[in-house]
Amino acid sequence: MNKETRATVIAGNWKMNKTPAETAALINDMKPLVGAADWCKVLLCVPYVDIAAAVEAAKGSNIEIGAENMHWEASGAYTGEISADMLKAVGVKYVIIGHSERRQYFAETDATVNLKVKAALAAGLTPIMCVGETLEQRDLGIMPEIIAMQTKCGLIGIDAEEMKKVIIAYEPVWAIGTGRTATADQADEVCGIIRNTLCGLYDCATAEAVTIQYGGSMNAKNAAELLSKKNVDGGLIGGASLKAPDFAAIVDAAK
Ligand code: 13P
Repeated sequence: MNKETRATVIAGNWKMNKTPAETAALINDMKPLVGAADWCKVLLCVPYVDIAAAVEAAKGSNIEIGAENMHWEASGAYTGEISADMLKAVGVKYVIIGHSERRQYFAETDATVNLKVKAALAAGLTPIMCVGETLEQRDLGIMPEIIAMQTKCGLIGIDAEEMKKVIIAYEPVWAIGTGRTATADQADEVCGIIRNTLCGLYDCATAEAVTIQYGGSMNAKNAAELLSKKNVDGGLIGGASLKAPDFAAIVDAAK
């Protein structure tokens, strides 16, 4: 199996942006621009309160809706949290797990990432599990170990069949929101490290089937080169997913 047989997934991560009304307007702007894209999956991960508006606005189009986080328990006394079943009930299909901003600002660990990946799969959601090194870790020369560790720890207890339903996003922390993109070769190298790790954890056929995205200052200008790389199967896009023409240009670049 090679890149042509893996799903290419272009996903927006809106982070903490947009009201429900703004959500509907932006998706209505995007629909005609990405509507013909049958060469990749197109999805938007939006804040919880925007999900209903997003699902409604995306109806009848190729845009699917995801969430940006979830809790691992099914229900209970977890003030402020949202479960996988709740997300599913409002039309969510994908959920970002372990984004570096959640690890950095909300004390998420590889252990909680693992619990969330398992809970998402159990509920029938596709987890987009994020991994990525800091600049300090890269400069220390321990990027390969950090990436392998985050990948292995996040996937404890996930079997090969389940693994085929997981998306992994490589997001170097130093490239997020900084305008400093990894080069296409750097992105390809680390997505390859992730794939090799999966090859060791499972088998190489399973590893070859997994969609591995790159994220970090991906934009209309650099997307085509990043997405042309053997191991880069899509993008997880922050800032550029908040503007319809920019996001559409990245979707086009995946052709
Ligand atoms: P930017 O595209 O804004 O750098 O954000 C990347 C990201 O964190 C996507 O999850």
